[in-house]
Amino acid sequence: MKHLLKMLDLSQQEIFEILDLADKLKYQTRHGIPHPILQGKTLGMIFQKASTRTRVSFETGMYQLGGYPLFLSANDLQIGRGEPVQDTARVLSRYLDGIMIRTFEQKEVEDLAEYGSIPIINGLTDFCHPCQVLADLLTIREYKDTFDGLKMCYIGDGNNMANSLIVGGLKVGMEVSVACPDNYQPDEKVMEFTKGYDCFSITNSPVKAAENADVILTDVWSSMGMESEIEKRKLAFAGYQVNDEVMEAAHADAMVMHCLPAHRGEEITEKVFEAHAAEIFDEAENRLHAQKAVMVKLMMPSEA
Ligand code: CP
Ligand code: NVA
Repeated sequence: MKHLLKMLDLSQQEIFEILDLADKLKYQTRHGIPHPILQGKTLGMIFQKASTRTRVSFETGMYQLGGYPLFLSANDLQIGRGEPVQDTARVLSRYLDGIMIRTFEQKEVEDLAEYGSIPIINGLTDFCHPCQVLADLLTIREYKDTFDGLKMCYIGDGNNMANSLIVGGLKVGMEVSVACPDNYQPDEKVMEFTKGYDCFSITNSPVKAAENADVILTDVWSSMGMESEIEKRKLAFAGYQVNDEVMEAAHADAMVMHCLPAHRGEEITEKVFEAHAAEIFDEAENRLHAQKAVMVKLMMPSEA
């Protein structure tokens, strides 16, 4: 594993190795056991979109690992004035030990990896959000002990979260059901991937998708960069909400998760959100531990 560009690239074994290492690092973090595995290493963090969790968890995680994180706003880099990503990749590779990038196009992340010579971590693109889904899988395994026999259900936009959850959920062995409106389906590459799995289903009915689910996930109706479509999307997604009706269809002990930020009253009701705040904020915490595992695996593989 040289980079973390998308869940499609990871094997089941690599996912489990990341989760196992994340468990170990979480234990060390919680118990105040120092783990300066990346001492002397530097991570550049390029942000072309806003972030709370990704920025703070990567920055803190790198500090806890003994390394140094550099926040690089795209507005301040020459990349924001048109310097090609291919050149940026080759320059930054001379200074840094790794790059985390949050941007729009997946191709930009893939180009960084192709032209640079250091590990690249995808901190969210329009196509996918692998760091979030690794944290989500870590959280599910913490609550349920196993993925075997579990059904994961995603309700809402067939966006970056849907794309990564479908691939991640299927790769670790869960049944995956999705409810999306017709015009907002997951990416074609992801739908192609699901063809190898009998335990994948997609429908227009949130209640049907949620039947006997063990984990229900959702995400905002309008992702970053889609601000001009907000009103149109509110109409298209009306009904694609995690609410009491959906929860009644799921198993009584079903978890509810949300990558955050959440829009209460849109993709999830206030009541369901608050009833499942424990899982949702454990999920947010697990960004830190999962990403520390990813950084160690990529930047100091001998310790992973
Ligand atoms: N879930 C997530 O990636 O949050 P941020 O946009 O705050 O980083
Ligand atoms: N789908 C959302 C996820 C935010 C973490 C977005 O891309 O804005």
